[in-house]
Amino acid sequence: MKTMSQNKPDSRLEELFLDELRALYGAEQHQLNVLLLLKKAASSQKLKNVLASHLDETREHIARLEIVFGKIGYAAEARVSETVLGITRAAEDIIAGTERATATRDAGIIVAAQQLEHYEITRYGSLAQHARTLEYDEVEEVLEQSLFEEKEADDLLTAVAENYINTEARKE
Ligand SMILES: [Fe+2]
Repeated sequence: MKTMSQNKPDSRLEELFLDELRALYGAEQHQLNVLLLLKKAASSQKLKNVLASHLDETREHIARLEIVFGKIGYAAEARVSETVLGITRAAEDIIAGTERATATRDAGIIVAAQQLEHYEITRYGSLAQHARTLEYDEVEEVLEQSLFEEKEADDLLTAVAENYINTEARKE
């Protein structure tokens, strides 16, 4: 596997890769807070469980990104993008705009969680592709593993929404 030259990217794609990696590292750290907030606001035990298990995965994803930084020879550094801040504000707005202990709030929580999930899925997808082009084989594998888990978490959220929360919310 190729490694970046000591602390200096040797191509524009490597520069972009590093910047996107920092943004994803920032997004995952931010996701910890957002998931805690959403889990606290959720009523459905099933939804709380899905959010709790993704919290554990998120901690693992943060640790994996730190491994990725190490593998390419950089210190882990986070950048929080405007998109992530916007998604966080949207999550807060959903909670503020729905009543406590309702299925409607739970349906909104799923919307908020999936917004962040989809952001991360696109980032992991692009980064894994760039890692492949840059011949960071081990890095690509690590990123693909997290990408897979993000997609699984997204599917679980969809299942909870479709199985009963959205139907319950419609009756409120
Ligand atoms: Fe994540």
